[in-house]
Amino acid sequence: MNNYDVAIIGSGFVGTSLAHFLQNYFSVKTFDIVSQSSLLTNSKIPHELIDITDFNSLQKIGNPKVIIHSAIIQIPKINEDKNLGYNVNVKGTQNICEIVSQNSSIQGMLLISSWHTYGEQQLKGLLQENIGYRPDMVEDRARLYALSKTIQECLIRFYDEKTPNKIFGALKIGTVLGEGMPKGTAANLFIEKAISGEKLTPFKHSMNRPMLYASITDICKATKNFVNLIIEQKKTSNNSIEHVMNIAYPHPISILDLAHIISNSVNKYTNGKIKPEVSIIDQGLDEVGSSTDKDNIELDVSKVKNFLNMETLTSPQEQIDILIKKKLSTTN
Ligand SMILES: NC(=O)c1ccc[n+]([C@@H]2O[C@H](COP(=O)([O-])OP(=O)(O)OC[C@H]3O[C@@H](n4cnc5c(N)ncnc54)[C@H](O)[C@@H]3O)[C@@H](O)[C@H]2O)c1
Repeated sequence: MNNYDVAIIGSGFVGTSLAHFLQNYFSVKTFDIVSQSSLLTNSKIPHELIDITDFNSLQKIGNPKVIIHSAIIQIPKINEDKNLGYNVNVKGTQNICEIVSQNSSIQGMLLISSWHTYGEQQLKGLLQENIGYRPDMVEDRARLYALSKTIQECLIRFYDEKTPNKIFGALKIGTVLGEGMPKGTAANLFIEKAISGEKLTPFKHSMNRPMLYASITDICKATKNFVNLIIEQKKTSNNSIEHVMNIAYPHPISILDLAHIISNSVNKYTNGKIKPEVSIIDQGLDEVGSSTDKDNIELDVSKVKNFLNMETLTSPQEQIDILIKKKLSTTN
C-alpha cells in the first residue's frame, strides 16, 4: 500500500486514538520509532518503524495524501535528554515538512500542537490563535516543551506560506482526556485513586492553575474534518494563521475542580458506594495563581466550529463521566 490516505507519524496516546477513529473513513498507516501500540493489534492498520530525525527513514512513508504529525519527546524526557528533544521535536518536524513539500502526492500535513504555546500564567481574555507565543509563561519544567511546540508551529506556518498548493496546519489541542491517557497525568492519577476509594490529593501550590481540557473524541472528529479540508484543497488564505485552530472545551477548570469532578462522578456512578475525599496537600510552596484565574480566560473555538463543523465540544465533566462509567464497567 504505497498510495493511501493518511500517514500518522507518532502512534503514542493521541496517534493511536486518531488511527482507531480515522480508519473508519480513510486508509491509514501508522509510523513510530517503536512498534505499534497493542491497542491497535487487532485493527489491521499497517505500521512501520521510522525515525523522524533521519530524513531517509521518512521515505518509508510512501505516498499518502495527508500526514498527521503527533510524534514528540515529552516532559520529563525532554529535560533529561535535551539533544534528543531538539532532534525529534525540531529537526524531526522540519524533516516531515520537507517530505510534504517535496512529495507531489502529499497534499498537506496537520501538526498536533498544544495550548501550551500560549503559556499558562497570567492569561486573560479570549485566547485567539493569533495572540502570539508565550513559551516563557510556563513552569520551568515545561519551558523546553513549550518552546518545542512554538518552534513546530512556526515551522508549519512558514511552510504553509511558502508552499502555494499545500496546506500545513496545526490543531492546538487542550490537555487530552480520554481512554489510554498517560499514567502520570493528573486526570489519570485522580481517576485511578478515586476508583480505588483513595483520597485525591491536589497540591495547594498548583491547584488553582487553569487548565484547558479537550476530549479525545472531539480531537478525532476535528482531525477527520481537517484531513478532508486538506484533501479538498480549500486553501482560501495565504495567511498561515488561518490553518492553526484551537480545540478544547472553551472554559478552563482548575486542578482542584478536576479532583472534585472526578470524586463526584465516582460517587454518582457507584451510587454512593465510593465517596473519594479531596484532600489538599500543602508543600509550603508559593501558590501559582488564584481560584478566580480560570474565570478570566476563554478559548476562542470559533474556527473549529466554522471550518471543521465542531458545533458542540465535550466538557471535562461530560468526558470524565464517560471515562468513569467505562472504567467502572470493566472493574466490576
Ligand atoms: N497528551 C496530551 O494531553 C497532549 C496535550 C496537548 C498536545 N499534545 C500533543 O499531541 C502530540 C501527541 O502527544 P501524545 O500524548 O500522543 O504523546 P506520546 O508520548 O504518547 O506519543 C509520542 C510518540 O512519538 C514517538 N516518537 C518519539 N520519537 C520519535 C522519532 N524519532 N520518530 C518517530 N516517532 C517518535 C514516540 O515513540 C511516541 O509513540 C504531541 O505533539 C503533543 O505535544 C498532547
